[in-house]
Amino acid sequence: MAGPKVDAAYLKEIERARRSLRALISSRQCAPIMLRLAWHDAGTYDAETRTGGPNGSIRNDFELKHSANNGLKIAVDFCEEVKRSCPKITYADLYQLAGVVAVEVTGGPTIDFDPGRKDSSESPPEGRLPDASKGASHLREVFYRMGLSDKDIVALSGGHTLGRAHKDRSGFEGQWTKDPLKFDNSYFKVLLKTESDGLLRLPSDLALVGDPKFHPYVELYATNEEVFFKDYAESHKKLSELGFTPR
Ligand code: HEM
Repeated sequence: MAGPKVDAAYLKEIERARRSLRALISSRQCAPIMLRLAWHDAGTYDAETRTGGPNGSIRNDFELKHSANNGLKIAVDFCEEVKRSCPKITYADLYQLAGVVAVEVTGGPTIDFDPGRKDSSESPPEGRLPDASKGASHLREVFYRMGLSDKDIVALSGGHTLGRAHKDRSGFEGQWTKDPLKFDNSYFKVLLKTESDGLLRLPSDLALVGDPKFHPYVELYATNEEVFFKDYAESHKKLSELGFTPR
């Protein structure tokens, strides 16, 4: 889909939404679930059929009820508060802007944001998002389908520097890092430690350490936060623009 041209009034609305999101995410401390919402709206993209992707369809009841999306109604409802005061913004732009702001307010890199995504009422079939109990070949299958690379897989997995798993949502429990509201490279540092520390490592996280092509990126990001931030910002922008050509 080609991004529609956005006019000056829309750009102003984007800046208002950005400010509301900053305030809302800081006061409710909901950066992790907002980032997860952006990722789950975008991560259904299928490059071959050009379906799914960051098109706001996750707000549809049918898609919100996919088991991978358990808990995300909370984030959809938070975004609805912003939509009420900024009604011009599409849900597709709003959810991606929320992801960008979530990373920013928790101390992560600035991610370039181009508006103009269109909303879709058509949801993709269930099962396009990755299964945390699976390994490297599954991750590649899912991310290559979106048109993303090995480097994108490792950099984006660094999103787990924020937040936690909830038994009643995914069946997993615990947080990946000591401070789940701080965006830094600690996720990679934890992954490389072998002693038990009470922190969470999903099978899909451990797959990054065990795979010969993923592993060098884990080492790089654990030792060099600057490179992680740069690569993360690039990969996140790609994820947020799957199937979308900005103006
Ligand atoms: C949470 C799986 C990639 C961001 C979770 C949870 C699972 C999971 C099982 C716990 C959900 C819950 O119980 O509440 C995976 C798998 C991935 C992946 C298998 C494949 C690589 C990503 C990516 C991002 C991301 C690419 C963002 C760039 C998050 C965040 C949370 C989370 C921020 C915490 C949500 C909260 O605290 O409520 N993920 N994830 N994940 N994921 Fe991922």
